[in-house]
Amino acid sequence: MFKKYGFKTTKELEVKATKENYAVGAFNFNNLEQILGIIKAAAELNSPVILAASHGATKYAGTIFLVHLAIAAKKKFPNVEMALHLDHGLDFSKCKECIDLGFSSVMIDASKYPLEENIKKCKEVVEYAHKFGVSVEGELGRLYGVEDEVNVSEAESAMTDPKEAEIFIEKSGIDSLAISIGNSHGLYKTDNPFIDFERLKEIKDCVSTPLVLHGASGIPEDSIRKACKIGISKVNIDTECRLAFRREIDKFIHSNPFDDHKPITYDPRKILTPALESITEVIKMKIKWFGSGNKL
Ligand code: G3H
Ligand code: 13P
Ligand code: ZN
Repeated sequence: MFKKYGFKTTKELEVKATKENYAVGAFNFNNLEQILGIIKAAAELNSPVILAASHGATKYAGTIFLVHLAIAAKKKFPNVEMALHLDHGLDFSKCKECIDLGFSSVMIDASKYPLEENIKKCKEVVEYAHKFGVSVEGELGRLYGVEDEVNVSEAESAMTDPKEAEIFIEKSGIDSLAISIGNSHGLYKTDNPFIDFERLKEIKDCVSTPLVLHGASGIPEDSIRKACKIGISKVNIDTECRLAFRREIDKFIHSNPFDDHKPITYDPRKILTPALESITEVIKMKIKWFGSGNKL
């Protein structure tokens, strides 16, 4: 289904990135402003890009709206290689819905289950997805947010085990692996979050499947560059774009307060354009860190 829309699979983008030692950014979108912010950055820097729609995004906007936003993005920017990817799909039925509607790649996130259960859930999605050439991302290890309040040994044991990763990939048949090496989702991170580069190297030595870094907002430039150099092929960013968006909306509202006695700006295009542009700026910076510019 997705091929007629001109999307690449994440596997195609990641395999090329692995060979050439850079990473492709996966940026989340839920609406027109976010997807425009993303695609404009990719087009300006001649970078491949992964348009990531979360399980939650499909509920918010409706999967069919997201697919058609992505089709429009491809039509408007035909030279940009892009994948349309389900981020953190929670069950087989959501993955199937996305595959049937034109996604080129899905993530089945069964990382909260024990290994065998995780394998079983991934395998079920792989068997369906591969019939249509759609690639599948699985996750092994758990990512915590700071709000989860875990102690050090819990955090350590939640990290991806390299040997387990090998077994997981072999038994599930997934095309890429999201790993836990100290990364976490969301806003609250320490200034310099600990990233276990040694563990990343060990995982890289054990598996040839492309590796994915979730929760990359707030991870500093040198750590991101190092992770990409060692062998991360896809990096997921959401929170930093959300924050930039929110900041611009705040600025707008503060400089244009509601006033019943004076004319005010109420055109949504005027309110949202700076927010859209701020996403483009964040993504251009990330693309430079990932090294994916001029790779089209
Ligand atoms: O890692 C998840 C992404 O930030 C998407 O978040 O589930 O709120 O859409 P969401
Ligand atoms: P951040 O929101 O921490 O950037 O994580 C994004 C992510 O992992 C999407 O899957
Ligand atoms: Zn994630």
